[in-house]
Amino acid sequence: MVATTSIHGMWTTRLAFILAATGSAVGLGNVWKFPYITGENGGGAFVLVYILCVSMIGIPIMMAEIMLGRRGRQSPINTMRTLAHAEDRHGFWQLIGWGGVIAGFLIISYYSVIAGWAIAYAFRALGGSFTSLTGETAKDLFGALTGDPERLLAWHTIFMVMTTIVISRGVRSGLEQAVRVLMPALFGLLLVLVGYALTSGNFMDGLRFLFVPDFGALSAGAIITAMGHAFFTLSLGMGAIMMYGSYLPASASITRSTIIIALMDTLVALLAGMAIFPIVFANGLEPGAGPGLVFLTLPIAFGNMPGGLLFGTLFFVLLVFAAWTSAISLIEPAVAWLVENQGFARVRASVYVGIVAWLLGIMTVLSFNDWAFSFDFAGEAKTNGVFDLVDILTANFMLPLGGLAMALFAGWFMARASTQDELALGQGPAYRLWRVLIRYIAPLAVVLVFFNAVGLL
Ligand code: PHE
Repeated sequence: MVATTSIHGMWTTRLAFILAATGSAVGLGNVWKFPYITGENGGGAFVLVYILCVSMIGIPIMMAEIMLGRRGRQSPINTMRTLAHAEDRHGFWQLIGWGGVIAGFLIISYYSVIAGWAIAYAFRALGGSFTSLTGETAKDLFGALTGDPERLLAWHTIFMVMTTIVISRGVRSGLEQAVRVLMPALFGLLLVLVGYALTSGNFMDGLRFLFVPDFGALSAGAIITAMGHAFFTLSLGMGAIMMYGSYLPASASITRSTIIIALMDTLVALLAGMAIFPIVFANGLEPGAGPGLVFLTLPIAFGNMPGGLLFGTLFFVLLVFAAWTSAISLIEPAVAWLVENQGFARVRASVYVGIVAWLLGIMTVLSFNDWAFSFDFAGEAKTNGVFDLVDILTANFMLPLGGLAMALFAGWFMARASTQDELALGQGPAYRLWRVLIRYIAPLAVVLVFFNAVGLL
C-alpha cells in the first residue's frame, strides 16, 4: 500500500535531495524578501522572531513535511489521501494538498514577476547602467522598470517559459548540478558584497539594525510576518518540500538533511541583510523602501566597486537561477497531480500549469503601475495592490495554516510507530524533542501568532 518509490522518479542520493531542497528554499525569499520585510518591520527584533520561528516551528515542520512526502510518494494531494487512509483518518486531510496547489499558483504568479526584475537587472548590470549610481539615480532606474507594464510582462513571460521548460523535463534532470555550482557562487558573491559594505557602507549601523533588537518596534503585524516568512523561506506549508520528500530514498536521514537546509537558507538571508543595510544607511535610502530595496541598494555597490560590471552581472544571473530552482518547486505539486490523476503527459501538464501561472502573474505586473492601490496591513501602508494582498494571504496565512495542518496530522493523527519508523531516530531524546515540538510547540505557536494578529483584521 505504501510505495517505496515515486512514479515521477527518485533522487539518486541524499545529497541530491539536500541540493534540490536547498535550491527550493534559497531564492528570492532570502535575497529579495527577507531584507525588505526586515526593513519594513524595524530590524533586529523582527530578525530574532524570524530565527526563533525557523528553529522552533520551521525545522520540526520541515521534518514532518519531508516525512509525509516520503511515506506517500505522490503529489501532496494524493500523498495526504493515501496517508489519511493508511492511518484510518478522514479524507479531508487531502485538503492540505489542494490548499498547497492553490498557494503554489498564487506565489509563483508574483514570484515570476520579481524574478523578471532580476533578469532585467542582469542586463542593466552588463550594459553598464550601474556606473556611479547614487541613491537618487538608483530610484529612477528602478522606477523606469516597475512603471512600465509591458517590460514587466516581457520579463515575466521569459521567466515563466524558462520555468515551464525545466519542469516539463522532470525536476531531477540538471537540478542537482545546477544547485551544486550555484550555491557556492551565490555565497561567494554575497561575501564580496559584504566586503564592499564593510569598507564603503555604514557597516556598524547596518549590523546594529539587523541584530540589535528593539522590541518597541515589534508589532503584531511584524510577528505574523516573521512567522510567515519562516514558512516562505523554507518552502514549507504548501507541499513543495513534501513533493521533494516523495523522491527521497528510504535510507536517507531526514533530520540531518533538514538541519543542513535550514542552516544554509538562514545564512544566505543574513548575508544578504549584511550586504544591503550598510548600503541603505550610507546612501540616504529608507530601510522600509519596500519590495524595491535590493534593486535600490546592490546596484549602488556594483556601480562603485572595482569589477562591479562583472560582479553585478554575475550576481543578478545567479539570483535568477536561485529563483528558478525555487519556482520549479512551487508548481511541481500541481504538475505531479495532473500526471497522476488526469493521465497527462508531463509536458502537457507543465504547459497548462505554466499558462495559468502566467495569466495570474498579470495581476502583479499591473500592481506596480496601472492597478496600484494602497491599503494598511498592521499599521504599515502597502502601496502595491494585488501583489501585496497575494503576498500577505499566502505567506502570512496559507503557508502557516498548511504547516499547522501537517504538524497536527504528523503529531496527533499518525501512529507514533509510523513516524518513528520514518524518522529513524529511535526512541531517544531527539525523537522525543521532535514529538514535543510537532505536537505542542509548533501548533501552539502558529495559533498564538494568528490570534495575536486578529486585532489587525
Ligand atoms: N523558499 C522560496 C524562497 O525563499 C520560495 C518558495 C516558497 C518556494 C514556497 C517553494 C514554496 O524564495
